[in-house]
Amino acid sequence: DSTMQKVLHINPDKCTGCLQCEMACSFENYGTFATAKSRIKVFDFHHTGKKVPYTCTQCDEAWCLHACPVEAITIDKATGAKVVIEDFLEGQEFSLMSFVRGTEFWPMPISQDHKRAYDGELGPNTGGMGAYSPAPVVTPEVHARAMREIIMPTLVGMAAEGLPYTGFLYAGLMIDAKGAPRVVEFNCRMGDPETQPIMMRLKSDLVDLVEAAVAGKLDKVEAEWDRRFALGVVMAAAGYPDSPRKGDAIHGLPATSAEDAHVFHAGTTEEGGEIRTSGGRVLCVTALGDNVKSAQKRAYEQVDQIHFDGMQCRRDIGYRAVGRKG
Ligand code: GLY
Repeated sequence: DSTMQKVLHINPDKCTGCLQCEMACSFENYGTFATAKSRIKVFDFHHTGKKVPYTCTQCDEAWCLHACPVEAITIDKATGAKVVIEDFLEGQEFSLMSFVRGTEFWPMPISQDHKRAYDGELGPNTGGMGAYSPAPVVTPEVHARAMREIIMPTLVGMAAEGLPYTGFLYAGLMIDAKGAPRVVEFNCRMGDPETQPIMMRLKSDLVDLVEAAVAGKLDKVEAEWDRRFALGVVMAAAGYPDSPRKGDAIHGLPATSAEDAHVFHAGTTEEGGEIRTSGGRVLCVTALGDNVKSAQKRAYEQVDQIHFDGMQCRRDIGYRAVGRKG
């Protein structure tokens, strides 16, 4: 009806009638709301009040999860609010983080995380239950395209708008059905838990790189990376991600870090000389290996030494990289 036409925006000039929503199409082009709904695979409302934006895989899922049907939005916020209908990207997501100073940048190696809580990509969405680097699914060609077609134009665009950026740029990218990198999200930070495997591979001094970026001297430094595979397993608290329990005592933490393994603390606190859980993702146990299997084995050896009540972790971190050359 006319209310919906006003609210669902609207780029009628660009709509090719392809019904893929790559360009936000005008509502009229769908004819009826029911037709639009049946054609659209994803509604991602972003501001759901959850820490982790949830991307629904079906319209009905969006309905019940957020109690926020598109019909309600269009009616309740008819005073100029926009509903953005996003393209549904199918494929594997990967992370490309960079040190940035204006239009100069050093890309970090590619990494991939596992977002679902349970093995086999099942269960609720989380910030990430584990990650690894490199990500063999990303070929050197895709990596080069991502830098050429996404990172560089983004930095040039920000500078051209008078907002040159200095800092870490996190690009969450997806390889689409045609093998092209597409943007899922940008963040002005590093990724968690992708950073942990990346830091295991960084042989240069992180502070030198950061200082060079701040001083506008990124071109004077070079980041050196370990050629080995790095893999991190998140050990999460009971109740994560909905309502993580705090205060469980953590036992079995290694007294020192090994050259090829490190336990990164996130949701921990020290009380009376004892380390306890204090957040959802408690630890990220990260290891290096000559290949994904040896890094995985070493990381899980360490995980198995560490205990706290209600601990949950996935046992399949890195499975997508097994058997791929990287
Ligand atoms: N692991 C995803 C993120 O840090 O945004």
